[in-house]
Amino acid sequence: MSTIAKQNYRGVYHFSPREKWMNDPNGMVYFEGEYHLFFQHHPDGMTWGPMHWGHAVSNDLVSWEELPIALAPDELGMIFSGSAVVDWNNTTEFFEDKPGLVAIFTHHLEMPDGKPAIQRQSLAYSKDKGRTWTRYEGNPVLEHESFIDFRDPKVFWHKETNQWVMIIACGQTVCLYHSPDLKSWTFASEFGEGIGSHDGVWECPDLFPLAIDGDPSNTKWVMLVSIGADPAFVEGSRTQYFTGDFDGKVFTPDEDSMNVRWLDYGRDNYAGVSWSDMPAEDGRRLFIGWMSNWMYANQTPTEVFRGAMTIARELYLESRNGEVILVQKPAREMESARIRVLSMKDAAVKDINARLNELNLESYEIVAQFPRHKSASFKVRVGAGQQTVIGIHGDTEELYVDRMASGQHDFHEHFQGHHSAKLKAAGPSYDLRIYVDRSSVEVFSNGGQAVITDLIFPKPESSGIAVFAENDLLISLDIYKLIPADKQEKN
Ligand code: FRU
Repeated sequence: MSTIAKQNYRGVYHFSPREKWMNDPNGMVYFEGEYHLFFQHHPDGMTWGPMHWGHAVSNDLVSWEELPIALAPDELGMIFSGSAVVDWNNTTEFFEDKPGLVAIFTHHLEMPDGKPAIQRQSLAYSKDKGRTWTRYEGNPVLEHESFIDFRDPKVFWHKETNQWVMIIACGQTVCLYHSPDLKSWTFASEFGEGIGSHDGVWECPDLFPLAIDGDPSNTKWVMLVSIGADPAFVEGSRTQYFTGDFDGKVFTPDEDSMNVRWLDYGRDNYAGVSWSDMPAEDGRRLFIGWMSNWMYANQTPTEVFRGAMTIARELYLESRNGEVILVQKPAREMESARIRVLSMKDAAVKDINARLNELNLESYEIVAQFPRHKSASFKVRVGAGQQTVIGIHGDTEELYVDRMASGQHDFHEHFQGHHSAKLKAAGPSYDLRIYVDRSSVEVFSNGGQAVITDLIFPKPESSGIAVFAENDLLISLDIYKLIPADKQEKN
């Protein structure tokens, strides 16, 4: 194995940069067979600093190849978060004979003498599948005279009105703009005052339609809005979502959006947005988030690199008990990394634990099912004085992750904790899908309605697994070692 793979906390199946700092995912776009993942990157430091767009590509959303830096700071400033699209119809006139990629990002310019920084939106384009980028000579293409926080443009083609739409964080709300050519933008509307959580600065929005319960004739629009960390809240940075209608100009939230709804009930899924330009025959809305939290992101105890992405997930809208909710499931490509190590049905806990005792695993997936209203839990990454507990309380119908004793935690006073999510309208049994890696757990339950993503920092030798079940029985249990297909022979 390479030295990269041996670093204690580097995930086996999660993307992290080869070295140094990473935060938000940026510019995710699918083009000519490749999933592109750009990311906020400080290539010269282990903490946040002058932002570049790092770049990685994948054919399967599991194995990522890091490519040279795509965009570096210039005279207009650092390269903050943003999106990328395929300009299929050459609306920009950047391309000659075939479509290419356009990145729409925030230029962040620091000002002298303590004056506030200036955030403006710019374009760059690529004619060679994202390998090299040219800045548009007319940059910046969008600025605002009063907002200090004016960043993270997410752009998509709105076919009903035949125009580009941009959603962008503007102060403590989001603003919507439209454009025929990505170069000239017209303000359309603003959303967010008096609705949602304002516990932190609004950042990294996204807006997209999804079918409800898989019925393409019944769609709603989903808006994601991340909120930054504020010292007054121990949760740190988080992502909320709204559902509603969108006519190309105005987003109208529905009744269900009057309550604050979170995408993830763990601490470590931030600034996530969705992939652009998925082929129509695929039709999925794929998502990835930054697996950290601004509360402690600059202090996590990794070496060589700092920052990882979540696994790729698919987003769905489902109606449950009359409410339309956003549901997340691991992208099906994750199954290509599976190597089955255990499969048991209607098994007694003592028999399961006897088998689990023989396993030593760092990076794996647990798929379990057990009867409703009975509690059950798994201890993962167990070693001397270390464990992460993941389970469901049958009486309160809550999913939880307890990282009180998960490993290193002294880098921040609020890292330790117990995080939970209420299960809404569960079926006759509980389902748990747990992704464990060298420094994370990602837990999906109740068909992806309740999701908890948490970093953990156990010792490499904390590789034990144990199960507890209130009625001493699991309906089914499968455990898979997870190794991306291209690395499988080498292990
Ligand atoms: C979100 C964020 C964005 C900004 C970027 C800077 O985590 O603060 O709003 O563009 O990070 O790195």
